Amino acid sequence: MESMAVGETAKILTIVGARPQFIKAAAVSRAFEKWNAANGPSRTFHDILVHTGQHYDDNMSRVFFEELHIPEPAYHLGVGSDTHGRQTAKMLAAIEEVLEIERPHLVLVYGDTNSTLAGALAAVKRHIPVAHVEAGLRSFNRRMPEEINRIVADELSQILFCPTVTAVDNLRQEGIEGEGSGTAVSCDIFSGRWVVLSGDVMADSLLYNGQLAEQRSQILERLGVGPKTVTEASRRYVLVTVHRAENADAPHRMEQILEALRAVAERGFAVVFPMHPRTLKNVHACTSCAHLLARCRKAGLIVCEPLSYLDMIRLERNALAILTDSGGVQKEAFLLGVPCLTLRDETEWVETVQLGWNVLVGADPMALVRRFEQVLAWNGVGAPFAGPEVSPSVDPQPYGDGRAAEIIVGFLADLFFT
Ligand code: UD1
Ligand code: UDP
Repeated sequence: MESMAVGETAKILTIVGARPQFIKAAAVSRAFEKWNAANGPSRTFHDILVHTGQHYDDNMSRVFFEELHIPEPAYHLGVGSDTHGRQTAKMLAAIEEVLEIERPHLVLVYGDTNSTLAGALAAVKRHIPVAHVEAGLRSFNRRMPEEINRIVADELSQILFCPTVTAVDNLRQEGIEGEGSGTAVSCDIFSGRWVVLSGDVMADSLLYNGQLAEQRSQILERLGVGPKTVTEASRRYVLVTVHRAENADAPHRMEQILEALRAVAERGFAVVFPMHPRTLKNVHACTSCAHLLARCRKAGLIVCEPLSYLDMIRLERNALAILTDSGGVQKEAFLLGVPCLTLRDETEWVETVQLGWNVLVGADPMALVRRFEQVLAWNGVGAPFAGPEVSPSVDPQPYGDGRAAEIIVGFLADLFFT
């Protein structure tokens, strides 16, 4: 493909489908609009949004479009839930049809879900270049479906937007190196490959919406864990999210996690658990888990539906600690300075651990309770709660300064319009 002539529109097909992708795409879509407002109409990005339908409940999808003012998708593929193979196959077929109609200049995919994999694969098969936002992350655990999705999406991508230096290094280890680290030259996109350290678009979203969440969200008041409404003790709540297959689909690990939550609740702390539909379904399908959940509730665990983004980040900011297996939530805990105990055996966001704000506890209740004691002993000022692991060589601001989306759009503008 030639560099675009002035007056042309760069057609970008953005593929999303799962909750964190709506949050990531919101930042980039805002940056496209900003670029168009400053540079159009002679040079314009036309961002065509495709929603695969991987997530479809209102509180897993619609709420993010409304709250974050994401434009209505031009295509909603309505794929829904299924096994990995069938879900990905349905997405591939449906995305292929959209590509045939739209013939975009570039397909933009985010993160590591089945929607990411299908978008990248459908595009390259039709000789359309792919840009991957959140490239280069690795857990080095190939039993994770997301790890496979990331590896394949990176391999297929022409432009790799990395959130961290670690991600750039991971790609280098796999022999994926860009031609230039930042600036693009106008050329046939298929003749080049670029690895770009952009920073993390989820950090952009958090910075952009943090203040808004404090002003608009009523979640603390609604759940009765807010500082203004209740006693000093109940303000000390712990926030929990669980949705990874390795936990949610493994009754033994879920039992262990629930045991740990019961121990925390029985120490007098409110535990707020916005439950992902996968986890809700599986907990109720497992008799011992359902029984344990009932005991947790008696001890002070509050289960609620998945939350809107503004509610979630207000809850995160004000929590005593966060227990999670989510990638996005680990990072948000770090950026908000809230201690995080990660319910996994590895993480892609290694900087959060290296800098002492995150500890991997797996599903071991003993490890979790021991680390929770460490959080309680922490004075919350200055140093991170898990101090000794801090490495002076790690950038204290590893996820960028809130301009990742601008860097991404600026890079694409250089590529298409110079
Ligand atoms: C997916 C991603 C994961 C990401 C997560 C974000 C893959 C392989 N996994 O995991 O990387 O971290 O999204 O949340 O793509 N369900 C509903 N309603 C919905 C969506 C899901 O009830 O709106 C239930 C269904 O029973 C479904 C299950 O949740 O089978 C799992 O959904 P799925 O999208 O397959 O995986 P997630 O666990 O959400
Ligand atoms: N999130 C949300 N509501 C919730 C749980 C999570 O808005 O009830 C947000 C969270 O703040 C973060 C993103 O969703 O921005 C993380 O998504 P998720 O945990 O589903 O996926 P992961 O990041 O692990 O891929």
